Order: sequence, then structure tokens, then C-alpha cells
Amino acid sequence: MAVALLVAAGRGERLGSDGPKAFVICAGRPMLEWSIEALRAVAEIERIVVALPPGVTAPPGTVGVPGGEQRSQSVQAALRHAAAQDDDVVLVHDAARPLVTPAIVRDCLDTLASEDCDAAIAAAPVADTIKESDGEEVVRTLDRTRLWAVQTPQVFHRAALEQAFAQGAAAVAAATDDASLIEAAGGTVRLVPAPRENFKVTTPEDLRLADLLLRARG
Ligand code: CTP
Ligand code: MG
Repeated sequence: MAVALLVAAGRGERLGSDGPKAFVICAGRPMLEWSIEALRAVAEIERIVVALPPGVTAPPGTVGVPGGEQRSQSVQAALRHAAAQDDDVVLVHDAARPLVTPAIVRDCLDTLASEDCDAAIAAAPVADTIKESDGEEVVRTLDRTRLWAVQTPQVFHRAALEQAFAQGAAAVAAATDDASLIEAAGGTVRLVPAPRENFKVTTPEDLRLADLLLRARG
């Protein structure tokens, strides 16, 4: 069985909303509730631990823990809370990705279960050509066929994730996704193809698009 860690403790500075981003209304509900609904629809997920900003209570049926200063520290806080239970799979998801579906979650869990790997992460092939710059000039053009835009959910064998987070505070604080801590620890990470629609709401334009897409799902 699996525990889901939903990270919702960010301030949402780039969105520029009044309150924390995960609680901004998107298609009629606080944004994190879309993710909670998708996670609840997956039988393997037994419980949901939510990393929360200050002064906010956990949604019904979830367990809240105070988040950290950086995203990875919020994951760590939720992971500590989820410790010492017998679920051996840990799923991490951004509350800022309300377009996640039960199918994406299941694909990640199935890949972790069937492949010899430490982590399985949702990702979409990169559609744009990506160039590297030194700040002024283009240094090179990357081979797009090898590039993936990484999303959440990311699922892990618990022991591998705990070991990855044991690499020290500096490594944890610097990590922008959890799978990179597994990579740094020498673990193996599998990509799970996912739709681009599972994007992260970062800016006001993203929020408008997510609102439209969720309403269109009916
Ligand atoms: N997050 C978190 N704790 C933090 C920072 C981020 O739980 N200290 C969560 C956010 O709530 C979000 C996810 O991590 O669900 C992805 O982070 P991001 O999109 O960067 O959200 P914010 O940090 O809220 O946004 P911004 O960086 O614009 O302030
Ligand atoms: Mg952030």
C-alpha cells in the first residue's frame, strides 16, 4: 500500500494571489482538492499527508503537517510524519498540479511495481527546442529527443526515498524535485510518460488555463 504526500505549503509568489496558492479557488474549489480527489480514486493509496502553510487546517480525510521553507523541506516534513507505518511506497505530489488524474497516478505506481527501479516519475516529452545560454549568447542546442519535462506524481520505494533525504540538509534544500535526490544517491529513476496537461500552476495564466481545462472535464 502507499502513502501520498501532498505538498501545499508554498506561498505562490509568482501567482501573486492573496493567500497560499494551493488554496486559491480553481474551477470552483480550493486547488489542492482536485489532487485529493484524484489520489482518493486510487485504491492503493491508503492515506494522504498534506504539508500545509501556517494557519491553514488540513482538508477532511487528510492529515496535516507544517510545511518547510523550501519545497523539499515540506516533503521531508511530510515524510517524517508518514514514517513508521507499514506502507512501503511513498508518492509525492504538488498541490499546484490540479490536473493530475487517477490514471497518471496508477501509471506511476504500476511502473514502480513492475520495473527494477527506486523511483517512477511522471514526465512529458519536451515540445520546444531547448537551447543553453551563457547569459548572453547561445552555447548549444540540446537534443530534444532526449529531454523530458518532469512533473509529479513521483513515486518511491520508501527506503530509497528516506536514504535520499539522508544526504544532508544542504543537498535536500537545493533539490527542486525529489527524484534528483535519488539520482544523487546513485539510485535509478524511471520516466512515466504523462500528458502535458498535468502542468504546474505557477502564473496567473496557468491558473486561467487550469480553470478552463477542469471545467471542460465536466
Ligand atoms: N511547496 C511546499 N513548500 C514550500 C514550497 C513549495 O509545499 N516551501 C509546494 C507548493 O505548495 C506547490 C509545490 O510545492 O504545491 C510546487 O512549488 P511551486 O510551484 O514553486 O509553489 P510555490 O512555492 O507556492 O510558488 P512560488 O515559487 O511562485 O512562490
Ligand atoms: Mg516555489
